[in-house]
Amino acid sequence: MRAQQIVVARPINAQPVAADFRLEEIELPAPEAGELLVRTRALSLDPYVGSTLRGRHMGHDSGAPGTLVVGLGIGEILESQDGDFSPGDLIAAEIGWRDHAIVKAETARRVDATLTPLSLHLGVLGMPGLTAYAGMTHRAKARAGDKVLISSAAGPVGGTAGQIARIHGATKVVGIAGSPEKCALVEDKYGFDQCINYKEEGWQDKIANAFPEGIDVYWDNVGGELLNTALTNLALYGRVVLCGLASQYHVDDRPAGPNPGLYIGKRAELYGLVVYDFYGEQADYAAKAAQWIADGKLTYVEDVAQGLVAAPAQFEKLMRGENIGKTVVRLD
Ligand SMILES: NC(=O)c1ccc[n+]([C@@H]2O[C@H](COP(=O)([O-])OP(=O)(O)OC[C@H]3O[C@@H](n4cnc5c(N)ncnc54)[C@H](OP(=O)(O)O)[C@@H]3O)[C@@H](O)[C@H]2O)c1
Repeated sequence: MRAQQIVVARPINAQPVAADFRLEEIELPAPEAGELLVRTRALSLDPYVGSTLRGRHMGHDSGAPGTLVVGLGIGEILESQDGDFSPGDLIAAEIGWRDHAIVKAETARRVDATLTPLSLHLGVLGMPGLTAYAGMTHRAKARAGDKVLISSAAGPVGGTAGQIARIHGATKVVGIAGSPEKCALVEDKYGFDQCINYKEEGWQDKIANAFPEGIDVYWDNVGGELLNTALTNLALYGRVVLCGLASQYHVDDRPAGPNPGLYIGKRAELYGLVVYDFYGEQADYAAKAAQWIADGKLTYVEDVAQGLVAAPAQFEKLMRGENIGKTVVRLD
């Protein structure tokens, strides 16, 4: 069968832009034993893809011209050569930027079709949600009374992490984001106590003033000066989840890290987070988060584009930090 896919059009040596990609048509083979033919219903666009295209994501390199762009997606099974799956089932898997794909059944995760839109399984119920849950629950061990600061708070990881901290009993949750529109979302929709725009003058003082007794948990999606400032305001024995490095993904010269004296003086606990370690919990987390959504304790926002051809421009928007919420492409 004929399928459309988006591949890398030229070497990518800087922050990716839409012109780095091109659409092409291919002939898909019939699925063999243990494989599934799926029609893509939704694609997830995530910051790690930008790093992967430049060979900077945990050693993965998929940026050579002509290569299919990687990405998680939701697929509807059209044909199954595996006993565990049937046509019509919905799965989450590494599909890549294409409208149809052959997927190995052993890599597919069945998703609950009653939880819609299906793109939820790529965001708040999917990898970013699990990242937030695992980091807040297992790493920071958020608990009653915690005062929490979260960077990139308008995104699916940060926004979900703050709400989960609240579910665990945090008494103060403050976000950091890059525009008034994002800050309004963080306060009004995600229910954070406050959001500080780090692109406005005086943001460092605002962080200090928001935490007169210090920060118990800092969730870092950014690195650099934000991390330094948060550490300076950390409470004694504060916990720091190191989740992302948004300020450094596309710079050539990465700055030196914070002075270790900051960690020592604060007796800080630092946790490097890699969501892959927690994939075994995905199904349990999704069920728990679906209940939180139903109970009105957890909410989400999606930044949606329609159709495979829209993926490059939608990805450029994410890379520029202009996304509001979880970036997805729907192919319905
Ligand atoms: N450790 C793990 O296993 C794991 C898993 C998933 C995601 N992550 C990381 O978690 C972070 C958040 O992911 P997400 O999916 O929720 O993405 P996201 O927050 O929706 O998107 C990234 C955001 O980073 C911010 N940003 C971009 N450039 C920046 C810069 N130069 N300085 C400061 N902030 C910048 C922008 O928000 P502002 O406008 O607010 O700055 C942008 O919207 C990412 O860094 C991602 O790589 C890690």
